[in-house]
Formats: sequence, structure tokens, C-alpha cells
Amino acid sequence: MKEELIIKAKEILEANFQEGGFTIPCQGLYPFQWKWDSGFIAIGLAYYNIKNAKREIETLLNAQWENGFIPHIVFHNDSDTYFPGADFHKSELHPLASKEYRSTGMAQPPVTGFVLQKMLNIAEDKEDMLQFIDTQIDKVFENHKYFYQHRDIHNEGLVYIYHNWESGTDNSPIWDDIWKTMDPPKYSFERRDTTHVDPSQRPSKREYDYYLHIIEIAKEHNYDDAKIAELSPFLVQDPLFNAMLIKSNAALIDLYEKLGNNKEKVSQLKKWQEKSIKGFNAKLYDAELGAYVHYDLRNNKPIRFISSSSFAPLYAGIPDMERAKQMVNTMMEKFGGEDKYLCASFDPTSDRFNPKKYWRGPVWINLNWILFYGLKSYGFTKIAERVKQDSIELVEKEGFYEYFDSRKEIRKTEAGGYGGNNFSWSAALLIDLINN
Ligand code: DGY
Repeated sequence: MKEELIIKAKEILEANFQEGGFTIPCQGLYPFQWKWDSGFIAIGLAYYNIKNAKREIETLLNAQWENGFIPHIVFHNDSDTYFPGADFHKSELHPLASKEYRSTGMAQPPVTGFVLQKMLNIAEDKEDMLQFIDTQIDKVFENHKYFYQHRDIHNEGLVYIYHNWESGTDNSPIWDDIWKTMDPPKYSFERRDTTHVDPSQRPSKREYDYYLHIIEIAKEHNYDDAKIAELSPFLVQDPLFNAMLIKSNAALIDLYEKLGNNKEKVSQLKKWQEKSIKGFNAKLYDAELGAYVHYDLRNNKPIRFISSSSFAPLYAGIPDMERAKQMVNTMMEKFGGEDKYLCASFDPTSDRFNPKKYWRGPVWINLNWILFYGLKSYGFTKIAERVKQDSIELVEKEGFYEYFDSRKEIRKTEAGGYGGNNFSWSAALLIDLINN
């Protein structure tokens, strides 16, 4: 059975691989290269097609801007099946944007550092992979430098995101209170996602107005970071995003040490790392909730809700053992009942939970992957194993969907796989989970 799943996963990755040397997340729904998707995809590819795994990283990093920024979508081709596309985002407004590739002007969780480390772990020919990493690693370092220089506005080791699409958890209920502070115009535009996927599983029209409005503000100021920090109605320190940066810092330190001759960069990374972990623990932990939470910089307050992002810091080794235990208790109490698959993307006990709607509740394979390794590294072996087995079972039962219903009982009457099917990172990360 596991062999069959791996064969199917490879078929999906092959079908989604494009001539330009990158993999689309999903046919129809997402026809370009997405930053964090690309990273997770490269991990799966590294098991059986090193050449394409490397190309995946190269094509992403080729689109880097001169200031170190790596965009969340690289528009390699013209496709009119996606909104909002290159003509809406207009990355060329930024003076340092790539002259070769059009892209968005926003980021996505910085996974590339730990992806390179993972590729080295998987590769059989370590020398060859290290040589490849040597050609790419400085670009990732420059990306981290961009974050610390431009997005840590209070000098506390925590970087901001200015758009929900930067978080990766696009329509999470975490953002609901921010939307209440905004009153964007009702834009007229043609959604394309809802022609591919049942609208009840996607963000609403009104939510898209908020999303577009923030981009309009950024565009008015040519994507200038300082202006965005001053004016964006959405300005958040996200525990998932910052945990990915911290995990990638650690990976870069390890890789630079293996490569040798990079003392200055290692010492810079160690400084960032120390400050970030300290700032993260001081500001983002909510002892009463027993989990890490988001912080709303624009409105100066913590956003006190628990999502799967709240547990991602385990993957970056951020909490001490005592906090890690509290977090696992919170997770098992709210998300881990026997009637549920781990791990819902939003607190199932909250009235904002919606088990079918994108990031408002469904289980996502990439977050499960992050939790699996995080739990394992703290010695929560049984729960880690459950996250892994639940992920495999969901894919086995439903197919390689984008997201899944966490409620076991609904399977008696309906299917529980939602969003796009033949989804690349579900395929890529399942290959890795089965192998670990
Ligand atoms: C979408 O279009 O929903 C994407 O997730 C944006 O990154």
C-alpha cells in the first residue's frame, strides 16, 4: 500500500513539473511557482530525482530581487487561470525587483534554508549536494539579511508580515479582527479559484477585497518596506513565519560550517538566532493559552487564538521542555480527540472553526510535516507517530488533496478531501513522511 502511495505521489510531481524547471502546486488552481510550495516539493523530489530537486531551488532563487527579497509567487508564464496575476501585482514597481521574472511583492514562510539541509540529509552523494548548496546558500543568507534589515522594525529579532498571503495561512480566523479595522472598497474582479474549487472551501469575495486593498497600498508606495511598515493596516508577527526563519537560520549555520570558510556569516547568523529566539519566547508565548500566538503590530496587541501555527515553534527548537509539554497538552486537549485527525489548522473548540474552509480548520499536510518533526525532536514520539499515521491515512482514504476535514465521523456520509486535488506538496511530503 505504501509503495502504491509513493508511485502515485511521484506521478503527481511529474505531471506538475513544468518545462521551465519548476513545479506548480496544483493544475488549474495554482499555475505558477510558489515559494514555500517549491521548498516542500524539492524535499520530495530529492528522494528520486536530485536533478529536478536542484532545479526547483534554482528556479525559485533566480527570481530573487537585488535587495535579497524572494517573492511568494514567480510568474514564469502568462496564465489567465489565476487571479490576481502579474499585471495586478506589478513587482516592477520596486526599483530592485528582478528584471527577468515578474512576481508578487510579498514573501512567504522562509523554508528554503532548512530545505537545503534536508536535501543534504536525503541525498546519497553528499559531496555533490554540498557543491550544489555552495552555489545557492548565499542567496538564502541574503534573504535572511533582508528580513532582519527591513522587517524587524523594533529590533527584537522578530520580523513582520504585511499580508495574510505572506503567512501562508491565507484566510485563518486569526486575521478576522484585523479585517474589522479596515473598510476597503468593493473591488470588481473575476475570481478564478472558485471556478476550480467549490466556493464553500475558499475565502469569500469580501475577504478578497481586504487582500487586494493591502496590495494596493503597498503598490502606491512601490513596495517600499519602510512605507509598508508605516501604513499597512495588516502588520503582524507570525509564530509560523518566524519559526521557519529560525529553523532556517540554524540550518544555514550548520551548512556554512560544513562548507567551511564562512566565519563571518556564521557569526552573523548566530547573533540573529540568539536574538530571535529570545524575542520570540519573550513576546509570543501565551502562558494562559499554553501556546504561541500572533502579535498584531498595527493595533499593538496579541491575537489570542490557537492555530496549528501556534505549535510550529517546536520544529525550530524554540520552547524549553516545560513549555513544550504545555503546548502538547494544549494540542491534545483541543485538537487531539480520538474523533479527530491531527492536526486541524485552527482550534476546533472555537466558534470561528470551519472544518471545510481552507485555513479556517482543515488539516494540511505541510503543517503536519512540521509538527511531526517538531514533536519528534522533543521526544513526543507517540504523538509524532500519530500525526504521521493520520497524514498517511487521510491521503490513502481521500487522495492527494490540498486539505482535509479533521472530523472522522463525516466520512460515514461524505468525502473529506478539499481544495485542489493532485496537490504537489501533499505528494512530496508524504514521500518524506513514509521514509521517516
Ligand atoms: C491563493 O491564491 O489562494 C494562494 O494561496 C495565494 O498565495
